[in-house]
Amino acid sequence: MAGYAPGPGGRNLDVTILVTGGAGFIGANFIHDWIAATGETAVNLDALTYAGNLESLEALAGDPRHVFVRGDIGDRALVERLLGEHRPRAIVHFAAESHVDRSIHGPGTFVQTNVNGTFELLEAARGYWSPLPGPDRARFRFLHVSTDEVYGTLRPGEPAFTEEHRHLPNSPYAASKAASDHLVRAWHHTYGLPVVTTNCSNNYGPYQFPEKLIPLMIVNGLAGKPLPVYGDGMQVRDWLYVRDHCSAIREVLERGRIGETYNVGGWNEKPNIEIVHTICSLLDELRPDPAGSHARLVTHVADRPGHDRRYAIDARKLERELGWRPAETFESGIRKTVRWYLDNADWVRNVQTGSYRAWLDQNYGHREHA
Ligand code: NAD
Ligand code: TYD
Repeated sequence: MAGYAPGPGGRNLDVTILVTGGAGFIGANFIHDWIAATGETAVNLDALTYAGNLESLEALAGDPRHVFVRGDIGDRALVERLLGEHRPRAIVHFAAESHVDRSIHGPGTFVQTNVNGTFELLEAARGYWSPLPGPDRARFRFLHVSTDEVYGTLRPGEPAFTEEHRHLPNSPYAASKAASDHLVRAWHHTYGLPVVTTNCSNNYGPYQFPEKLIPLMIVNGLAGKPLPVYGDGMQVRDWLYVRDHCSAIREVLERGRIGETYNVGGWNEKPNIEIVHTICSLLDELRPDPAGSHARLVTHVADRPGHDRRYAIDARKLERELGWRPAETFESGIRKTVRWYLDNADWVRNVQTGSYRAWLDQNYGHREHA
């Protein structure tokens, strides 16, 4: 924005943002989207856990608008140094442990990163923001990326989650994200930190690690391996194409009301089994298998403990206040996604490392066929 007085470092606050978790699925898509849409610099702080992958950002190699820093959001001294050096106008906070099944096997890292890590980040942000000069202080935002899973589960026919729905988390992952939402809310109410929170539904699209439903089904289908559907497969999720999520975050960052929460959804409620069959049909069309339809690989396995039956997001507040609606239908988004996995076999091969295979053994090895 023009008209800002330069900060003490001599640079305006308005040309840089700090993104946490930008080497993960949504964060990497967001960095590509952000630089293409705004031309601004994104400083990307990511610990490169199993879910972080710099190959997802390869197209930005050598571009000075992407500054990668390997580190933990819980390392307050590091975050303080980055904020002081780069003087961002916003923090967009994606970094998290994000996989429900992993949170069932090992909840400790979820509490560590999602709760303690968010606390440390909020404190560093507060220390940076409080002494900023007036216009920079007014301009700064802390955008917290959260999930619809904090709201718990819905029965068939119940209205979709609005922003007023109580937090009723059921998995260790959901509970840790709910805790982080509460911290963010409290840092606004108590200290005045200018926060906005987004709670989005299930994302899908390029660069998603193949431990989540859609990429797992694509890569297993291509390899002729079983497609493990938990329980009866009638659990319902609301699917959001990742680039639509990115555009929603840009809108909320620029025009969202401070202290508010915005739900982001794709208006695409579908049972898992339907998603799996759609992927099978697309694979049959785009990469036919001489052994027969990919649907022959569908295998019902033991259900996830405490499995939430249905999530549905009511995203009308975002539409009413900021005019945002998703651009993709599920049909257009899933076709793009399957094509992306077909066209990026190297990316897929490189993430299927030894630790990925160990995870498949841990999560699927003990599941009897249902
Ligand atoms: P992801 O697991 O693909 O990526 C998370 C990234 O955070 C990785 O790059 C990882 O290395 C990094 N990270 C983890 N711990 C860190 C730490 N302590 N310090 C710094 N970096 C760390 O996750 P995603 O699917 O991209 O999700 C991003 C955010 O969106 C998360 O906060 C998640 O809760 C939320 N969300 C995701 C979905 C979805 O469908 N994927 C839906 C709703 C909300
Ligand atoms: P997932 O992609 O893990 O996202 P979330 O649990 O955050 O919604 O799972 C989406 C749905 O797919 C969920 O209902 C669990 C189900 N699922 C399977 O049926 N089989 C699988 O192998 C996986 C990973 C998920």
